[in-house]
Amino acid sequence: MHNITLIKGDGIGPEISDAVLQIIKAVGVDINWDIQTAGADVIEAEGVPLPQRVIDSVKKNKIALKSPVTTPIGKGFRSVNVQLRKELDLYANLRPCYNLPNVKTRYEGVDIVVVRENTEDLYAGIERQIDNDTAESIKRITRSASERIAKFAFDYAVNNNREFVTVVTKANICKLSDGLFLDSARKIGENYDLPLKEILVDNCCMQIVQNPNQFDVLLLPNLYGDIVSDLCAGLIGGLGVAQGANIGKDYAVFEPVHGSAPDIAGQNKANPTAMLMSAIEMLSYIGEKDAGQRIKNALFETLNADIKTADLGGNITCSGFADAIISRL
Ligand code: NAI
Repeated sequence: MHNITLIKGDGIGPEISDAVLQIIKAVGVDINWDIQTAGADVIEAEGVPLPQRVIDSVKKNKIALKSPVTTPIGKGFRSVNVQLRKELDLYANLRPCYNLPNVKTRYEGVDIVVVRENTEDLYAGIERQIDNDTAESIKRITRSASERIAKFAFDYAVNNNREFVTVVTKANICKLSDGLFLDSARKIGENYDLPLKEILVDNCCMQIVQNPNQFDVLLLPNLYGDIVSDLCAGLIGGLGVAQGANIGKDYAVFEPVHGSAPDIAGQNKANPTAMLMSAIEMLSYIGEKDAGQRIKNALFETLNADIKTADLGGNITCSGFADAIISRL
């Protein structure tokens, strides 16, 4: 029996969580889900969007599966996601991006792993309003955080038979902050037998769009990592299929790349694949690799049978898609 925290989120979060839970139940993995709510819906009752009970639950169980939580834009509370990653020191954001069967995209054979630093950079939330017409945000980069994410990227590359790591910065402009990130990657890279390539983020975006197959593992500071991982999601069929994980020394939170998709929330239209792929990684992480592989096979068979949600050009509902996968397990 595994004890795992489930953060159901809001928007499409509850729909895709229910679909994924049903699939995991059907494959027969014994999980005791500790279901936790967070975000705007809990503020009235508990005063904060990320109550301490959520953090305590993940600390107790060590593993969480999370669906998206809405963050108000330009005002309101700080992102629950950013806060959670900070509280649990989930310093590595891991986003493998590869083509799924029968999902039409502009490119074939994409296989990029984005490793994004998760705790600092502009996401440290150090902002101030200087006067009515001036605001500033501080981009903080430290050597310790940069070295540990570089080490994570290289270890991942070695353990997963990847060929090289590319560090992505804007060190020609942000000479000190991005310069430190780059320098840390170079220093850590010296301990590994894998080549480290270097590229500026603007050129990287152009190169990815021209030929994504030239990249392997990408190592990025927080902001560029956020942007480039959505770009990579676009290469493989969009946010509905892009998986992710946030990993630290003691805890791991698995979650899709996408947000709460308020435009389609409550309509049973969302694609649960991204959340399901994240859950498959989670199963592998907790030692249930076979169960994860069975789900992946059933998912691929379902896609190959041309059963797809609207974002992929089909017309099956979110719950209907889950049923189709379950029938193929
Ligand atoms: P979004 O990812 O929620 O949606 C972008 C577009 O992709 C929308 O058209 C949406 O319908 C579509 N989409 C996303 N996931 C889909 C799925 N599973 N199936 C089908 N279509 C899907 O990004 P947006 O609109 O910028 O953000 C909405 C909210 O989500 C914001 O409050 C944002 O802060 C939050 N957010 C939360 C994240 C998290 O909890 N980890 C991550 C990203 C955004």
